[in-house]
Amino acid sequence: MAVFNVELKKVVDDSYEIELGYELYDRLVEDIKGGLVGNIRKFAVVTDDIVEPLYAAPIRERLENAGYFVKVFTIKNGEKSKIRATKEYIEDAMLDSGFRRDCCIIAVGGGVVTDLAGFTAGTFGRGVPFINYATTLLAAADASVGGKTAVDTPLATNLIGLFNQPEKVYIDINAWRTLPRRQLCSGMAETIKHACMADREFFDFLSENLEKIYAFDKDACEHAAQCNCRIKYSVVMKDERESGLREILNLGHTVGRAIETVSGYRLLHGEAVSIGLAAQAHLSRRLGYMTDDEVSKVEELLKRAGLPVLIPDYIDREELVKKLYTDKKVRDGKLRFVLQKGIGDVVCFGENSYAAPIDEQTAREIINEI
Ligand code: GLY
Repeated sequence: MAVFNVELKKVVDDSYEIELGYELYDRLVEDIKGGLVGNIRKFAVVTDDIVEPLYAAPIRERLENAGYFVKVFTIKNGEKSKIRATKEYIEDAMLDSGFRRDCCIIAVGGGVVTDLAGFTAGTFGRGVPFINYATTLLAAADASVGGKTAVDTPLATNLIGLFNQPEKVYIDINAWRTLPRRQLCSGMAETIKHACMADREFFDFLSENLEKIYAFDKDACEHAAQCNCRIKYSVVMKDERESGLREILNLGHTVGRAIETVSGYRLLHGEAVSIGLAAQAHLSRRLGYMTDDEVSKVEELLKRAGLPVLIPDYIDREELVKKLYTDKKVRDGKLRFVLQKGIGDVVCFGENSYAAPIDEQTAREIINEI
């Protein structure tokens, strides 16, 4: 028998820029003209039915005026669209429109669109480049940055996907103005999560400036957007593939992701994360990592941000306990939680270990407490 040694050592540079600003359509087209995605001339714009007329249309118009071939693929807004069937729909529609490997996908929208489009880009023609144009606070705070792309399955959210980094991320702060209030609040949950896990000053800033952000005060919005990016990329740069440190971005997500699914998506992602943040704070207090006062401060900020901190009555708590086991952090059949240490830090449980094993009964008690 012969043995062949296939040597495929690689040095990969997946670096990219995140640009924050207002109505960044012209910047996007200038970057493309300047070679952001090489010589590509075909663009598939993936968006949803709310965002399409507001932000995808101006991008399409400018790209067409610059001589590029552009088609817009529109999905229905909402988490229920983030499924394999929608990915298949986009892929088939792109193929029918003549798209092959020499194209680039531009995701214009919130987290559902950027997650779905980024995953589609990772597999279309075995991988084409993609650009994120984030129009929501949630996408700005979390989804559009860091390269996690995925779809949901009936069992749980984000179970099928890829680490796939975009060519560039544009964060259009102006677009937050057209968000329904509930969506804006949902995005604030990921923002508060960043403050809770990494930055006490940012937490105090949010406490003092929440109303200014909700009133679209320029300085307050820019500061929040910058802090989100700084905190998120500082983690992702050290641990892109979540071998340890990146788990801290999961703060509040163990209960959060489970309750989002059990609610049948009646809860928006941020609303579910908010309840998850409250749950981990209660757990953290029980284990001695947070004081009563710190837990109250976190819950107060979430409530002031228009977010829930209690599990709604329509949720079956035992079903929720079972759903916790679909969490990606589960190891050897054991639940694992990331826990806040005071405000602005997380507990480290050993070298590169940021999630603690928690027995089911303790998790159940916390779920019954909130
Ligand atoms: N949203 C969690 C992460 O990006 O790792």
